[in-house]
Amino acid sequence: MAAAALVFRNIVITGASSGIGAALARHYAAPGVTLGLVGRDAGRLCAVAAEARAAGAAAVEGALDVRDRVALTAFLIGFDAEHPVDLLIANAGVLDGRRADGSIEDADAARRVIEINLLGATDTLHAVLPGMRARGWGHIALVSSLAALSPVTDAPAYSASKAGLLSYGKALRAALAGEGVRVSVVCPGYVVSAMTDSHIGHQPGKISADAAARLIAAGIARNKAVIGFPRVLYALAMITPFVPEAINRVATRGIRFHVVPRDL
Ligand SMILES: NC(=O)c1ccc[n+]([C@@H]2O[C@H](COP(=O)([O-])OP(=O)(O)OC[C@H]3O[C@@H](n4cnc5c(N)ncnc54)[C@H](OP(=O)(O)O)[C@@H]3O)[C@@H](O)[C@H]2O)c1
Repeated sequence: MAAAALVFRNIVITGASSGIGAALARHYAAPGVTLGLVGRDAGRLCAVAAEARAAGAAAVEGALDVRDRVALTAFLIGFDAEHPVDLLIANAGVLDGRRADGSIEDADAARRVIEINLLGATDTLHAVLPGMRARGWGHIALVSSLAALSPVTDAPAYSASKAGLLSYGKALRAALAGEGVRVSVVCPGYVVSAMTDSHIGHQPGKISADAAARLIAAGIARNKAVIGFPRVLYALAMITPFVPEAINRVATRGIRFHVVPRDL
């Protein structure tokens, strides 16, 4: 449903220390805006906060792991008390999957990916949601992936975590309809970042993190339920469930990949 764009003054972005999250911080940084920036790497987070301040914004850094629910909730509730959040972008995420030797992810890797990408995001939004509901105002954007629509052979837990987030976001959007709190789910294709550096394989339609941030911000401003891009890959991902398994397997051969392990 098209609706008037909200004006965002107090914005929280998780996963702000690199890639898409850092680009979103740069995009929204402006005089009169306060950014709450979350990530694990204090040094990279500090550099993003400094860029935001140079653009005239205020910035509060939360160097923490989204799996640490106590620290995460304390930071977000503290930030919200000082700066009532009107835009929350739950973007922190990791990729794991098939390794160069062909081995598939083990149980620990699957758990870690789902804890960060899905439970980290739900813990994030639930720390901020009561304040938004009480104020009857706000927008929550959950950064999922096209892998939510078209599960990726080489990253089962990643696909599951992102499908879970898509489903959660769509249901939450419906549940909050009429309360003034909006929810969008972002489904990017390939974007230049440390994550795609660790993804060894063909990445068609790859765009810069700054371009992704602009598309995400435009989709949020239009209150889109699902912000999927690039357009062609989004359309292909949408029809995947209707394509016979054997055809899909052949069609996706060219985008098989392996992951170079990072500190997850
Ligand atoms: N790049 C793509 O092609 C692509 C496509 C679809 C969806 N996405 C999604 O976009 C989001 C951003 O990814 P990106 O591509 O920008 O990758 P990135 O450059 O690796 O950034 C990931 C961000 O998430 C943070 N993060 C990871 N684990 C965390 C944890 N446990 N606690 C707190 N922060 C954590 C990282 O912070 P630290 O490094 O400081 O820990 C970093 O700021 C992810 O959710 C990803 O799944 C990306």
